[in-house]
Amino acid sequence: MAASYPGSPALAVDHSYQVAANRIWRPYNTLAKSISEQRREWIRMATLAASSHNSQPWKFLVRDHLITIFPDYKRRCPAVDPDDSHLFKSLGCAAENLIHAAAVDGFHADAYFDPVQDAVVIEIERAVIARHDGLSAAIVNRRCSRTPYDSKPIAASVQTSLITAATSNETTPFILQSPQQMEGILEYVRQGNIAQFGDPAFVKELRDWVRFNPADAISAGDGLAGEVSGQPAIPGWLGRRIFGLISSGKKQADTDAKAIRSSSGVIAFVGERDDKASWVATGRAYERFALQATALNVRNAFINQPIEVHRLRPQLHTWLGVPQQHVHLIVRYGNGQVTPHSLRRPVEDVIIT
Ligand SMILES: Cc1cc2nc3c(=O)[nH]c(=O)nc-3n(C[C@H](O)[C@H](O)[C@H](O)COP(=O)(O)O)c2cc1C
Repeated sequence: MAASYPGSPALAVDHSYQVAANRIWRPYNTLAKSISEQRREWIRMATLAASSHNSQPWKFLVRDHLITIFPDYKRRCPAVDPDDSHLFKSLGCAAENLIHAAAVDGFHADAYFDPVQDAVVIEIERAVIARHDGLSAAIVNRRCSRTPYDSKPIAASVQTSLITAATSNETTPFILQSPQQMEGILEYVRQGNIAQFGDPAFVKELRDWVRFNPADAISAGDGLAGEVSGQPAIPGWLGRRIFGLISSGKKQADTDAKAIRSSSGVIAFVGERDDKASWVATGRAYERFALQATALNVRNAFINQPIEVHRLRPQLHTWLGVPQQHVHLIVRYGNGQVTPHSLRRPVEDVIIT
């Protein structure tokens, strides 16, 4: 997916948008009585996960003790994500939320990628010892915050918790924090922005996912709402007409430079492999990191341009000292203001019956 999307700090939020967001992000219903009500609530929590362009490229099938998350290829983003790697990372994000939600009801769950079904399978069973790590409460508060942060470092103990959350068998987090490292990654983001905004297919795809006013955002229930990044509301037809004129690689690079320099650090999620199973695992690690960050009042936002522009990857890997590995996601983090939530489609729309 693109850059941090064009935008400035979030300001006032439209009332009807706020009402819709409050309904979508309402707290987890711990009073769900039947198992089918509980499963539905787990799936609702899964849909609150991050997804590339807020495309929500998932479909959920419930069968006995299994919930399978299938990719919804109708929602793919071929310009920014030609190999569907972001799509499968998004499925991993959803799986991670679902696992934390099920734990609240005393269920143990684990997920794996099944190449035969081309899907993420979550096996769920009643836990012998009910155990949850408290991250489930963060699901309804998590969001990407694309505003600049306050430039202050976060506490060492907080950073340690974030690194632990981001670590898995498949994913190693790399932290960039020194001024040289921050300037180095910023330069890759700049080159990525210039390349992306110079590509008409990328700009058109991004434009098609932008929701230019609250009414459009609410009726679609997906995409990149202007409300989230403090954009003034304009008619959709006008937004689509002027989007290519008002956005540019240079403008986006300047916005991102300011945002990166205001961040406490940048985390790169690095894996040994570059396949669907490792993308799903990376999505899970990111979502866990984001839930932990939310629980500790730390903000985060993606700056994936250096991996989305494939020709930048070899240089990036060499610069990071991981020439044989793969950077799957790049995220900045720090202290900052709470920004508005993005919206979601109704749960009924994503359950296969
Ligand atoms: C795999 C993946 C890649 C993403 N890439 C970017 C990105 O490059 N720039 C960005 O600003 N947001 C990126 N996002 C964040 C999504 O746009 C965001 O999750 C979505 O709009 C929903 O908003 P929320 O996470 O605040 O709920 C990415 C998310 C995922 C899961």
